[in-house]
Amino acid sequence: MYKNLMLLCLCLLLISINAGCKSNDSYAESLSDEQTDIAVEQTGLPVDETALDPMEIEHFYYIPAITNDVLHNITTGDENGLNIDLNDPDIWGKIHTGPYPFEAGDSDYDFPYFRKTSDIVNGQGSLNIESFFSSSEYNSNNWLSGGRSTATTTIAYRLELFSGTTIKGMAGSFVSFQKNGDIFEKLPTIVEGPFVTELYSDNPTTLNIVWRTDELCTGQVKFGEYVFDDGSNVPKTLHSVPIDNLVPDAEYVYNVTSEAQDGRTVVSNTYKVRTAPPKGQGDIKFVYTSDSYDTSGGGERNYLGCNMDVLRDVTANAFRDGAEYMIFGGDLIKGMTVNKEDMIVQYRAWKQIVSGFWHTRPIYPGMGNHEFLYNLFDGYVAMDKWPYDTDSSEVVFAQEFYNPKNGPETSDPRRPSYEENVYHFQHGPVLNISVNTTYWVSMKFGDYSESPQFGGAPFGYIMEDQLSWIEETLETAEDDNSIKFIFIFTHCPILPYMTHVEDSMWWNGNNNIKAQTRKLNTETQEYEIQPESLGIIDVRDRLLTAVTKSTKVAAIFTSHEHGYHRTLISKYTPVYTDGSTNPNFNNATWHIMCGGGGSGFNGESLDSTPWKPQRITSHTGYVMLETKGDKVGMKFIGGLAREVLDDLDDLMAIKYAK
Ligand SMILES: [Fe+2]
Repeated sequence: MYKNLMLLCLCLLLISINAGCKSNDSYAESLSDEQTDIAVEQTGLPVDETALDPMEIEHFYYIPAITNDVLHNITTGDENGLNIDLNDPDIWGKIHTGPYPFEAGDSDYDFPYFRKTSDIVNGQGSLNIESFFSSSEYNSNNWLSGGRSTATTTIAYRLELFSGTTIKGMAGSFVSFQKNGDIFEKLPTIVEGPFVTELYSDNPTTLNIVWRTDELCTGQVKFGEYVFDDGSNVPKTLHSVPIDNLVPDAEYVYNVTSEAQDGRTVVSNTYKVRTAPPKGQGDIKFVYTSDSYDTSGGGERNYLGCNMDVLRDVTANAFRDGAEYMIFGGDLIKGMTVNKEDMIVQYRAWKQIVSGFWHTRPIYPGMGNHEFLYNLFDGYVAMDKWPYDTDSSEVVFAQEFYNPKNGPETSDPRRPSYEENVYHFQHGPVLNISVNTTYWVSMKFGDYSESPQFGGAPFGYIMEDQLSWIEETLETAEDDNSIKFIFIFTHCPILPYMTHVEDSMWWNGNNNIKAQTRKLNTETQEYEIQPESLGIIDVRDRLLTAVTKSTKVAAIFTSHEHGYHRTLISKYTPVYTDGSTNPNFNNATWHIMCGGGGSGFNGESLDSTPWKPQRITSHTGYVMLETKGDKVGMKFIGGLAREVLDDLDDLMAIKYAK
């Protein structure tokens, strides 16, 4: 089967390369000579799996409690509520229901409040809704008298699932409904969003509203005094409506309406949103954290591969603290799977958990090593899944998130796209840059050091095309007077200090770690695996040279280790195995690793690296940034009580320190 897939992929690649040359001459002309050579001469996959046997396995590493289709399989309605069929007679458990959004008029942050519980027997159950109408004790949303917001009556449901003696875990969603006499009837439902996207100073007069319905619907946004749609009038499930002619740094209210083909409609809650300030203007607040995949502890700590308990708390606190946007450094979900649908159901659970924030303020995720969808071969060799344009880790991430599309083109068109995993955006005086250090990954489970031998990139590696793009982006920003501060965020630590000293951008100092590409040897006319010229330490040094050449980089945020540490990068920081320094690291810059989103804690790896952080803790939490004129303050807010566990008045103060 994989051979056929490979042949199909080969054909598709050849067709796409030919089509690109014929239909878009300007694209061909824009390629450098070297890039054109690659497009003409290099065919087939950029990895070589021919010596490997596929591992025939449906699930490996993590099995989600439920598929996305079954989660939404609401079948019939009756006098008690709506019925769900999980299509598996072995499944048993509980269904919890509650109004959503709970008392929306009293809070700007949407969340469900569960209040009633019923049983799942033989894979079937009933969502109790009637109680919320019949008893004043449960009538919190005033549904009997029209509700408390514009939102169509909607119930949140959570499933606790078991099969035999196995705990399958939790999952949940929403369903909108109406009453026809005494009978409850399902309506089209907004199962994701609405989210505010593309809200940045790069274009502060426009933004996008995105939401997903469970049925084919048209979509409209009532934004301020005007109504917008996507101009197509074509029924769909993923709706993206551009809003324009806005005033920068101004507050608006909006809600969305979707209509199914039979005329039934659903309306969202109404949200307050503030447009971005013009470039360079205003003082802003934002937060950074990462690593929210599931961990021990039971219950909400494993919600479809996410640690809902911590992620929800972090997001709600960031909202309360006034963060205008959130950047997230990867490892959102457990992921790491051969199954695309497994990946998608987890991504949608993650979005559901953070939706209280995202309805009104943007969230920008980057990719981590758990955002890894792969083909698996005997020996547990995993390679980024192909065909890359439909099944790669990168393309599925791009489909599920709504990030800027201004990253680099790949220099080798056979590799996956950087679209929406490498990007930048500006908010007020701050430029944010997403760098992907888990791009086009190949790894061997159980022995990372053999990871890229069949082609692909090891954790932490940045290919030449992305590295050049970072350098160019920093150089352009240096000359842009509207940019005062730059924050780079990426998954793999530049200077790891916990469990990932064995990989990240360090690999215990082993500079032989390189990405490998299947290329044609022009002398032998044979395809072979060829290493990149730069080793992992060379890549790190080139990145840090560019970063410390800039006078504006306030911090590099990283992830991957589950805790927090802060380390000064300067020409005095020992960065090699012999304890020596790099004199090219000119302008000192903070490296802030914050993987506080709830993945199981990591302790520090004492004395395992030449450097030692200035502050280390393994608590969960997030980093809050606040600009004040020419200063930018930083707090790490962590621990159960969300205390300030680390605090710097100005990240820029060390720039010119001797
Ligand atoms: Fe990670």
